[in-house]
Amino acid sequence: MVNDFVLNRVPRILFGNGKLSALPGLVKAFGDNLLILTGRKSFLKSKQADELIDALKSKKINFSTEPVPHEPSPRMIDDLVRKYSGKAISVVVSIGGGSVLDAGKAVSAMLPLGEPVKEYLEGVGTRKHPGAKIPFIAVPTTAGTGSETTGNSVLSETGPEGFKRSLRHENFIPDIALVDPELTLSCTSMQTAISGMDAFSQLLESFLSTRCSKLTDALALEGILHVRNSLKKAVSNGNDPEARAGMSYASMLSGITITNAGLGLVHGFASSIGGRKDIPHGVICGTLMGVVNRAIIERLLKEDTNPAALEKYIRLGKLLSGTEERSDVDYAFYVANTIESLVEELKIPSLGNYGLTEEEITAIARSTDHKNNPVVFTTEELKDMLVKRL
Ligand SMILES: [Fe+2]
Repeated sequence: MVNDFVLNRVPRILFGNGKLSALPGLVKAFGDNLLILTGRKSFLKSKQADELIDALKSKKINFSTEPVPHEPSPRMIDDLVRKYSGKAISVVVSIGGGSVLDAGKAVSAMLPLGEPVKEYLEGVGTRKHPGAKIPFIAVPTTAGTGSETTGNSVLSETGPEGFKRSLRHENFIPDIALVDPELTLSCTSMQTAISGMDAFSQLLESFLSTRCSKLTDALALEGILHVRNSLKKAVSNGNDPEARAGMSYASMLSGITITNAGLGLVHGFASSIGGRKDIPHGVICGTLMGVVNRAIIERLLKEDTNPAALEKYIRLGKLLSGTEERSDVDYAFYVANTIESLVEELKIPSLGNYGLTEEEITAIARSTDHKNNPVVFTTEELKDMLVKRL
């Protein structure tokens, strides 16, 4: 049975090693005035960057570069928009991790408006963005956030009144996602591990989401199988091209599945914790994925409220284990066991390492949104999950 679904737009995707060389031609098609955003460990110092700059110059493309040294805040976006608003930028290109991609997405969206971005943030501002933007090309150098295929940019302000919220519009889905797995070769093993766990949690949450469709399920399972085959290899040997490509592919798919099926409780925690504490997004997702999924499975087995979700865990347990002869309960728990051993093996830090205390947990649990989670928990139950990962 194929139920109704909507597939939002997907960027034009160029995937493959060496695809970065196509960038100058892609830029030129939009115009001659380019703004490039890069990360802190600047891509600009690499050999690939030298080649890119030579190619841009030979095509007579004017370009400016700006660093994105940390997760983007509304202030960072407003400053960049102010700086470039009179410069007739024809295309914005982000080359970097999720923060750089999100920053570029927000700058391309706010350049035509020139107003404070905070007013347009979900749950923070009151205004609705009309969707007009400068063309945007996303070039990820990590494999995890999937921002190259999503229509939202996550901006944050940390502190007691902090938030981590999205600027969102279907038009903000990048015009082009240029996914060159070679660009991820320089990621450290911890970066690879936490980004990979982010992609894994995004794929799993959209697979189990109350908004899923047959199409997003197929893409999510495809992504999860690539995480299974590639994540540990990419972490243990960063130069393994097959593993790197597998993770870049999984990440790109996760952006499509979350855009169309949404997320669950792990990402609910990522918003509520991320607004208060400066903890990398991938660490929050990776460290909580095991406890959250175990709690969901236990609830699904205890109460027959969502048989479709339980069926999915069983199906996934069979796929991940490559076997068929065990009991349904075994297969459901196989998923949680697999995640927990991965968290252990990849040495994903727990939240206490970043100074999160038991005192802060109540406020976090109270403000956590379940998003499209298949099961809803009480505040006490949410607190228990957090305590287990302190
Ligand atoms: Fe995420």
